[in-house]
Amino acid sequence: MSTDRTAHTNPFVPGFGSTPPALVGREAEFADIEAMIGRVRQGIYEQPRLLVGERGLGKTALLIEVTVWARRQRLWQVDLQAAETGDLTPHLMRDLREHLLAHDRDARVVDLVRRALRVLSSFSVTYGVGVKLDLTKESGRADTGDLATDLGDVLIATCQAARSVGTALLVTVDEVQKMPGPQLEALLTAVQRVYKDRSDPRANLPFALIAAGLPDALDTIRHLGGTFGERVRVHELDMLSVPETIEALVIPARERSVRWDGDALDRLALRTGGWPVAVQQYGYDAWNAGTGSLIASTEVERALITAERALDRIYAGRLRDTTDRQRAYLQAMAGLPAAERTSAAVAKRLGSTSRAWGSTRDGLIRSGLIRPDGYGRAAFTLPGFEDFLHRS
Ligand SMILES: Nc1ncnc2c1ncn2[C@@H]1O[C@H](COP(=O)(O)OP(=O)(O)OP(=O)(O)O)[C@@H](O)[C@H]1O
Ligand SMILES: [Mg+2]
Repeated sequence: MSTDRTAHTNPFVPGFGSTPPALVGREAEFADIEAMIGRVRQGIYEQPRLLVGERGLGKTALLIEVTVWARRQRLWQVDLQAAETGDLTPHLMRDLREHLLAHDRDARVVDLVRRALRVLSSFSVTYGVGVKLDLTKESGRADTGDLATDLGDVLIATCQAARSVGTALLVTVDEVQKMPGPQLEALLTAVQRVYKDRSDPRANLPFALIAAGLPDALDTIRHLGGTFGERVRVHELDMLSVPETIEALVIPARERSVRWDGDALDRLALRTGGWPVAVQQYGYDAWNAGTGSLIASTEVERALITAERALDRIYAGRLRDTTDRQRAYLQAMAGLPAAERTSAAVAKRLGSTSRAWGSTRDGLIRSGLIRPDGYGRAAFTLPGFEDFLHRS
């Protein structure tokens, strides 16, 4: 039987930052965000959201899903991508300007829109952000030289304009762990100012912030001082369950009239450990291992080998981010059976005490490579990482 199963039609998307053919298992997080935005639009206070999870758990995929939805809802949205170097404000200002200019001729709201544009002008001049605006500055706004204050002025003026148009402003920040501390602090302080604005005594400004990052992002936020950590609602993304993994593999294939051998599918699903990036990689390699309408057992066997090699690059990247001591700790853990990976046992293998290795262990937990697993034990977070350690 002829099918659509060619390398060209492969529905699976290995790698990062792509939209999966079927986004599964994130219904609860999505529903929470949808409700948050619905409430924010009515002027009800809602905490910022932080999506945390290890590499490849689907933070960016979920953010993309949210932004696509938000665009349909006609929200004003700005999607920021943090980096260790570089400043997010030019991107923020450019996008805010776009939204405002789209309403610059709307007679009902033009005053607040024009005013927000003038505040943007002030900001651009104060910070030398190359955003072109043919407007005078709003004096006394966004010109103190204190980033938190000035950013707050811009966000407040923009949200007031958004409210007058009947919409809300949604800012997303991906890879928030990469954001330089002072920038992150300024952003969060500015956001607190937005929440405190009482230009309408009955309602909050319609503003929502969603950030996403590695597990230590939350730690970074807590360490900024203030009460930011408590004011953020955290969603820790989990690995997909086995039924969810199977769904993520079956739905895209079925849409192209391709079926899976049942036993082989179960084997493949288990091997992914429910790690979304692995689900896509294994699915992709299994698809490419043949051309028939059935993804057969022998094809899956081949995919198990090729996909593992592709995932090794991700593991190697994570390992590169660790210190020598952390690597020693990981190897010592891998040398013990899962049930025996207590702090004391791992330290003993390293010829020392758990106290001497405590900060190393904490660092690995913060970075998300291992997690506490009850009774003083630790477990590896990424499926397949342990095998990788044995191989490398
Ligand atoms: N819920 C999901 N169901 C199926 N596939 C998913 C899901 N979430 C993400 N994926 C797929 O997994 C891969 C990794 O996702 P994504 O890039 O969003 O991870 P991430 O958490 O942002 O990783 P990183 O921390 O490296 O940025 C992508 O190929 C994406 O298509
Ligand atoms: Mg990402």
